[in-house]
Amino acid sequence: MDQKQDEILKKDRAELLQAQAELWCHTFCYLKSIALRCAVELGMPNAIHRNGGSASLPELLGTLPLAANKRSCLPRLMRFLVSFGIFKEDISREGTTTTTTSVYQLTPVSRLLVDASSRGIFVLGNWLTSSDENTPFGMAHGMDFWDFTGHDAEYSMLFNKGMASDSHFVVNIVIHECAEVFVGVRSLVDVGGGNGAMAKAIADAFPHIKCYVLDLPHVIHGTPTDGIVEFVAGDMMHFVPSADVVLLKFVLHDWSDEDCVRILTQCKQAITNKEEGGKVIIIDTVIGSPSQQILEAQLSMDICMMTLTTGKEPEERDWHKIFLEAGFTRYKIMPILGVRALIEVYP
Ligand SMILES: C[S@@+](CC[C@H](N)C(=O)[O-])C[C@H]1O[C@@H](n2cnc3c(N)ncnc32)[C@H](O)[C@@H]1O
Repeated sequence: MDQKQDEILKKDRAELLQAQAELWCHTFCYLKSIALRCAVELGMPNAIHRNGGSASLPELLGTLPLAANKRSCLPRLMRFLVSFGIFKEDISREGTTTTTTSVYQLTPVSRLLVDASSRGIFVLGNWLTSSDENTPFGMAHGMDFWDFTGHDAEYSMLFNKGMASDSHFVVNIVIHECAEVFVGVRSLVDVGGGNGAMAKAIADAFPHIKCYVLDLPHVIHGTPTDGIVEFVAGDMMHFVPSADVVLLKFVLHDWSDEDCVRILTQCKQAITNKEEGGKVIIIDTVIGSPSQQILEAQLSMDICMMTLTTGKEPEERDWHKIFLEAGFTRYKIMPILGVRALIEVYP
C-alpha cells in the first residue's frame, strides 16, 4: 500500500471514530434530561442561589440531601451538568497550595430553575438520596446488570452481539494503528471477552498468537467454538488464565476502583513473561479530550455507568492510582480510539 493510500485510510478511521463519538452523544442524550431532573429534585439551583450565587463542592455536600455512600457521585454529576451549560465551574486554588476546589455558579439556564419544583423524586435522584447499596439498575430490577444478563438469554444475546459489533469496529483500528503492541506476543487472554469477536480478529491478524477468552459461564456456554480461540468459563475476580498479554476491553469501567484493583491483581498474576514485555492491554476511556464531541460522549458514558454498574469512566489520575495499587510499575496511554484509549500497563 502506498503512503497516499495509507493516509486516506488513516483519515477515514479518524472520521469513523469522530462519527462513533457523535452517535454515542445521540444515544446517551436522554441522560441529560435525567441529570437535569435530578439537579432540580435535589434542589441544586436553590442551594447555589441561597449560598449567594456560587457554592463549592463541600458547601453543596453540606446542603444537598445525598446519602453518605453516594457523596462521591456528586462531582461526576456536577461535571456532566457543567458540560452542557446547566452550571458553570470555576476552579479556585486553596491559599498558596496546589490543591484546587471546584466552585459552581448558576448559569442563565439554572437561574430559571431556582424555586422550580418537581413532583416526587425519581430514578437518579431517588438513588442518590437512598443509602441502598444497589445501583439504580439494581434498584429497578432487583439484581445487578450481570445477573440480569444471566437470567435473560435474549437480552444477553443482544448485549453480546452489540459488544461484538463494537469489537469488530475497534479491532480494525487497533490492528492498523498500533500493531506494534502485539510484537513478540505468543499468547493473549481477552478477559470479559464476551463471544470472542475481539480475540478471533486478533488471532486472524496475528496467527502466531494463541488466543483465549474468559467470560461468565452463561456467556461462554452460549458461544459456538471454532477451534481457533479457546473459551474459558470463570470469574475474573478469582482467576485469569495465564498468557503473555491480558486484554481488558470495555470491562474495567463497569467496576468500582476497589474491584478494578482486584481484577488487575488477578491479571498481573496471570502474565507469563513479566520480564520480557508481558503486560495488560486496556481499552477503555480516559476522560479528557480536546474534541467537545468526544468529551461529551465520555461524560455521558460516565453517567450511564453510574446508572447501570458500580463503575465509572476514570480520569488519568484515577487510572494511575488503580495501577499502582494493583502492583503495576508503569503504563502508557495511547489516545487512538476516539472516545476510548489503548493503555499498556506493565508489571
Ligand atoms: C461491557 S462487556 C465487554 C465485552 C467485550 N470485552 C467487548 O468489549 O466487546 C463486559 C463483559 O464482562 C463480562 N463479565 C462480567 N463479570 C465478569 C466476571 N466476574 N468474570 C468474567 N467476565 C465477566 C460480561 O459477561 C461481559 O461480556
